[in-house]
Amino acid sequence: MKLLLLIPLIIIFFLLCKSTPSLSSSAAAADRLALLQFKSLLSDPTGALSAWNSSIHFCQWPGITCSIRGSRVTEIELNSLQLGGPIPPAIFNLSSLETLHLEHNNFIGPIPDEIGRLSHLRDLSLSYNSLSGEIPANITRCSSLQFFNLRNNLLTGEIPSDLHLIPKLQVIHLWKNNITGRIPATIGNISSLWEIVFSQNNLFGRIPESMSRLTNLKTMLIDQNMFTGEFPPSFFNLSSLSNIYLSFNELEGTLPSSMFETMPNLQRFLLGRNRFHGPIPASVSNASHLFEFDLSVNGFSGFIPSKLGNSQYLWWVALGFNQLEAKEAYDWRFMASLTNCSSLVTLDLQQNNLSGVLPSTLADLSPGITTLVLSYNRISGNLPDEIGNLVNLTEFQASNNLLTGRLPSSIGNLKNLHVLSLQGNRLDGQIPNSISKLSQLNLLQLQNNTFNGSMLASFKNLVNLQELDLSGNRFSGEIPKEILSLPSLSLGLDISNNMLTGKLPAEIGKLTTLNWFSAANNNLSGEIPTELGNCLSLEHLYLQGNSFEGAIPQSLSNLKGLRELDLSHNNLVQQIPIFLENLYGLLILNLSFNELEGKVPENGIFKNSTAVSLYGNKNLCGGITEFHLPYCGNGTSSNLNGRKHLSLMLKILIPVIGLVLCLSFGFCIFTTLCRIKRLKKKSFLNLIEDQFKRTSYAELLKATDGFSSSNLIGVGGFGSVYKGVIQPGKTTVAIRVLDLDRHGASKSFMAECDALKGIRHRNLVKVLTACSSADFSGRDFKALVMKYMHNGSLDQWLHKDGSSSTTSILKFELRLSIAVDVAYALDYLHNLGHAQIVHCDLKPSNVLLDEEMTAHLSDFGLAKILLDKDDRQSASIGIKGTIGYVPPGNPLMEKQYHRKDPCHHW
Ligand SMILES: *[C@@H]1O[C@H](CO)[C@@H](O)[C@H](O)[C@H]1NC(C)=O
Ligand SMILES: *[C@@H]1O[C@H](CO)[C@@H](O)[C@H](O)[C@H]1NC(C)=O
Ligand SMILES: *[C@@H]1O[C@H](CO)[C@@H](O)[C@H](O)[C@H]1NC(C)=O
Ligand SMILES: *[C@@H]1O[C@H](CO)[C@@H](O)[C@H](O)[C@H]1NC(C)=O
Ligand SMILES: *[C@@H]1O[C@H](CO)[C@@H](O)[C@H](O)[C@H]1NC(C)=O
Ligand SMILES: *[C@@H]1O[C@H](CO)[C@@H](O)[C@H](O)[C@H]1NC(C)=O
Ligand SMILES: *[C@@H]1O[C@H](CO)[C@@H](O)[C@H](O)[C@H]1NC(C)=O
Ligand SMILES: *[C@@H]1O[C@H](CO)[C@@H](O)[C@H](O)[C@H]1NC(C)=O
Repeated sequence: MKLLLLIPLIIIFFLLCKSTPSLSSSAAAADRLALLQFKSLLSDPTGALSAWNSSIHFCQWPGITCSIRGSRVTEIELNSLQLGGPIPPAIFNLSSLETLHLEHNNFIGPIPDEIGRLSHLRDLSLSYNSLSGEIPANITRCSSLQFFNLRNNLLTGEIPSDLHLIPKLQVIHLWKNNITGRIPATIGNISSLWEIVFSQNNLFGRIPESMSRLTNLKTMLIDQNMFTGEFPPSFFNLSSLSNIYLSFNELEGTLPSSMFETMPNLQRFLLGRNRFHGPIPASVSNASHLFEFDLSVNGFSGFIPSKLGNSQYLWWVALGFNQLEAKEAYDWRFMASLTNCSSLVTLDLQQNNLSGVLPSTLADLSPGITTLVLSYNRISGNLPDEIGNLVNLTEFQASNNLLTGRLPSSIGNLKNLHVLSLQGNRLDGQIPNSISKLSQLNLLQLQNNTFNGSMLASFKNLVNLQELDLSGNRFSGEIPKEILSLPSLSLGLDISNNMLTGKLPAEIGKLTTLNWFSAANNNLSGEIPTELGNCLSLEHLYLQGNSFEGAIPQSLSNLKGLRELDLSHNNLVQQIPIFLENLYGLLILNLSFNELEGKVPENGIFKNSTAVSLYGNKNLCGGITEFHLPYCGNGTSSNLNGRKHLSLMLKILIPVIGLVLCLSFGFCIFTTLCRIKRLKKKSFLNLIEDQFKRTSYAELLKATDGFSSSNLIGVGGFGSVYKGVIQPGKTTVAIRVLDLDRHGASKSFMAECDALKGIRHRNLVKVLTACSSADFSGRDFKALVMKYMHNGSLDQWLHKDGSSSTTSILKFELRLSIAVDVAYALDYLHNLGHAQIVHCDLKPSNVLLDEEMTAHLSDFGLAKILLDKDDRQSASIGIKGTIGYVPPGNPLMEKQYHRKDPCHHW
């Protein structure tokens, strides 16, 4: 009976069993069709899907997994196959699909809306493609989705606001797209979320407080967006959190003191480049899993917790660019605690307020540490001798501190070092020879210390060095050839501001890839080596402030990339080479204070007088008018300063002065009387002088109504003379403004002014004070303030009314008295003053007359001081005379100096 009952049941069962395969096989057939259509519509340059053919069942096709029963496609795994084109929507007909991985391909275009059909989809990854457009709103219809990965695409638009409709979502990964907008607050309802990665997008606004309800959240990476406002403190109660990246946002807030107690699982805590402030919580000592700790570039202050290093896993500690403090040894205890961290690889403390002595425990840090950065603090003390223990260091920077003592020779053990940066300290002594063992070194910066001794030839072993900066030390001796034999040097070689002597070795020519070379401000001599022209990569060349001599080498014409060239303050001679015109990259050229001569080129950089400096070369001529150099004429290229014009004038004026000298003798008694009378004024003069002890550009500007033309009383060889009224005491003065463009600023203007101030004679125009500063546009400004002479110059009296009948105006007695005054002045200058001075520009326009028609000799701009009478070494303070001058080339002078003309041959 039971059997009879069972038979129909069995029959029904069979029928059902028969019909089920037929149903599923039609669905399977649809899956197969969908796959074929998917394949046919995408680009497959490597033929990765060629095995998708009818010779095998589609469930065996590479990348396809089917359900055991029914042969429905449940998984597609097609990663890194260079598949491309838009994603064919046919794939979304695979209604049983649970896993879809198309990572690391070249898919483009938007994610099709049809994705919403995949209601069984649990795991979607389209990462590392070039998908664009917005995240389709239909994604929320994939209600089974748990893992949602779109990282590294070009997606735009916003995060769908109703993501909470995907109730089982666990991971959402949008790293590196172009997603904007705010994080929807509803995200706080997806309680299953444990990983959120929104890094590197354009998200903004506040972090929704609701997110701190995500009690399963382990990882929250939202760095490199534009989030603002306070980071919700409620997050610090999320004990599940172990990775927090907030770096590169504009988030604010403080860290609760107990945060590492309430978040015991914290492993990575990255807050760099935000606006957090306040102290680092001391509870960091409880963070026993802490691994990466980055608080750099914020406003953290206070002391670094002494038990910072309690986590044995600590790997990365970046606290740079804050206002963290240390004052004494006690405050540095954190360093000792970090020695427990056997995995420590990076310690960055730069740019804080750390002072006190560098603890020697530094050398006990994990020998595996690779990066140690202490720069820009006020750390004192020595580098520990044991620093050589840190054998894996690749980067050691302690620049701009107050470190003293020597560079320990154990530094040579740091054979992996690529960067050694110790500039701006007070390190001294010799550089240990062991430094030559650092053969990996790319960057060696030891500038601005007080290292001394000779530069090491053994630097030659630093075969990977790209930049070597030894400037601003006290290195002496010659430049070792070996230092110039480092073909790897490319970024720069700076040996400036030392005390190096000797020649610049020809080996410099081996540095063919060098971009920057400075040997400025040493005591180098000899010629500039022609081999310098082999340094074809040079863009910046600084040789100023040495004693280089000879001509500027022609070979420099090879340096087509040159942007800045400074050869100033040397003893270079001959003409300015014409090739400088053709260095089209040149932006700044400084040739000032050499002994260059001849014609200044007029093209290329020489068209721009602000880019070229030629001051202090006495024999240059020509050039564009802005240089205010004399014309070159047609003769030979040198010494064209119009001496020929002068010779005629000399012939006339020499006898005149001879006569004057004779007459002066006879009228001695008469003038002595006058002298007594005038001496009474001296105390008054001293008063004025005190008043002008310090004068500035601004004062002189005011005194002359802004150097107005109405106050201009003369234009002379050395610039313009203005009448001015100086305020305290309303004293009228004459202000001689030196035309620096025209004659070049004197190297030692003030020193020479002092010499002139020491000259006191009633027949010399008193120099009250001098002003050497900068005008309001920053240009050099030099002026002499002198007593004002009411009756102008003798020249004006001689040529008054332009008529030749001057006798009526200037009576003979007056002329004689003037002549005698001039004679007195010259006698004083030549024989009586504390230094012998030859005026070199004696002419009527330089003889000035006061209210009482007493003559005063002026314009010592061209004077030559013969400092040492015995060996007649001479210091010049000017250049040759102007038209109308009387050279002291008379027989008397010649006898005295054994020279024809002390004003020339300079
Ligand atoms: C995919 O499904 C749509 C709608 O159901 C249908 O029109 C289309 O033919 C299907 N495509 C394939 C290749 O099965
Ligand atoms: C089909 O795929 C198999 C590998 O699965 C391959 O050996 C065969 O050559 C393919 N046939 C065609 C026609 O591409
Ligand atoms: C996307 O979803 C909307 C409803 O939200 C629906 O009307 C539309 O057909 C879907 N699009 C596709 C292509 O599935
Ligand atoms: C992201 O968007 C910005 C403007 O919103 C655009 O400038 C940038 O090119 C975009 N980046 C990519 C990778 O599309
Ligand atoms: C130094 O680095 C090397 C290579 O990275 C590594 O094998 C070695 O263990 C490190 N040394 C120490 C002391 O950590
Ligand atoms: C070195 O000192 C000079 C002059 O004081 C200064 O201009 C330069 O910036 C300093 N360089 C460094 C790296 O500290
Ligand atoms: C002249 O040189 C200066 C300084 O290098 C530069 O700023 C300026 O632009 C140059 N002028 C012209 C017209 O090239
Ligand atoms: C100077 O040179 C110019 C052009 O070279 C010429 O015209 C002029 O005649 C010359 N003058 C003298 C005096 O040689």
